[in-house]
Amino acid sequence: MSGDGARVAGGTGPDSGTVRFAVVTGATGGIGSAICAALADSGHAVLAHYGSREERARELQQKLRDRGARCHLIGADLGDPAGVDAVVRHVGALLEEHPEYRLTALVNNAAKMLSPSFADTTPADFDRYFAINTRAPFFLAQGLVPLMPPGGSVVNMSSASAHFSSPGDISYAMSKAAVESLTRNMAEAIASRGIRVNAVIPGFTDNGHPGFRSAAVREYMASFAVLGGVSEPETVAAAVAFLASDAAKRTTGTTLDVSGGSTLSARGARKHSVKELLAEDQEEV
Ligand SMILES: NC(=O)c1ccc[n+]([C@@H]2O[C@H](COP(=O)([O-])OP(=O)(O)OC[C@H]3O[C@@H](n4cnc5c(N)ncnc54)[C@H](OP(=O)(O)O)[C@@H]3O)[C@@H](O)[C@H]2O)c1
Repeated sequence: MSGDGARVAGGTGPDSGTVRFAVVTGATGGIGSAICAALADSGHAVLAHYGSREERARELQQKLRDRGARCHLIGADLGDPAGVDAVVRHVGALLEEHPEYRLTALVNNAAKMLSPSFADTTPADFDRYFAINTRAPFFLAQGLVPLMPPGGSVVNMSSASAHFSSPGDISYAMSKAAVESLTRNMAEAIASRGIRVNAVIPGFTDNGHPGFRSAAVREYMASFAVLGGVSEPETVAAAVAFLASDAAKRTTGTTLDVSGGSTLSARGARKHSVKELLAEDQEEV
């Protein structure tokens, strides 16, 4: 590790003296902050993106710096194309400022969850979910892939809900199904540049939302996974770190399912949704 905390990728050869640099969106979320920590621990300098929670982003930055990693921050609304452009421009500026950086990973992790039901969804809701969850990953990749050297990697965050019917969360589920299609299509589109694209499929993962403290909500979530329980963010982060590493150098256009078997559709009929149970919890307070 160098004196200022950044770790150097490779001791000899053409990469000697360079630092792997990763862009992680949604770094203030439960999963995003674990991804930043995992990538920092595997030697990356990180650009941690956040939406609205600047203070949380600063805490994450301090935590990573305390662990000896370099961490930069940017806040941007990814539902707005101007926010996507701002991230791309900031990455370009950081690469100029830090000539030792090699942009080796983009992790499209930010998302808006818990969308309205089929009956309640408005066109504005529909557009907002797709803008944040699908359009932003598309255009972030379009803007950042040209800045990546061969060997770079894009990791998109999908969801188990893309693999079964979720009418209570329909726009979210559809937006994640589109992310998997984006993953396959982009993998072929940029393969000739030597850059890989994959997606991770989490099931319910304890991101720190108060719902995970509710026994009823947790039991409902656990009923989806054939392995039972809910996931820890670190498990999802480990899958991202693997796909972003050279150990996955022959893996592109695919998904890595860390949902505990939630996509096997083995559960019984559901009577509730997370939102209904959260509302019931609120009423009881
Ligand atoms: N947790 C689960 O059970 C689960 C299950 C399956 C898939 N996933 C997927 O895993 C990923 C991370 O989820 P999580 O559980 O860590 O979520 P989370 O804790 O709710 O965090 C969401 C992150 O996305 C950012 N974000 C939301 N809207 C944004 C916007 N308009 N512009 C910019 N950033 C925005 C948030 O930023 P601010 O907070 O700073 O505003 C936050 O950093 C998501 O793609 C999610 O779909 C999660």
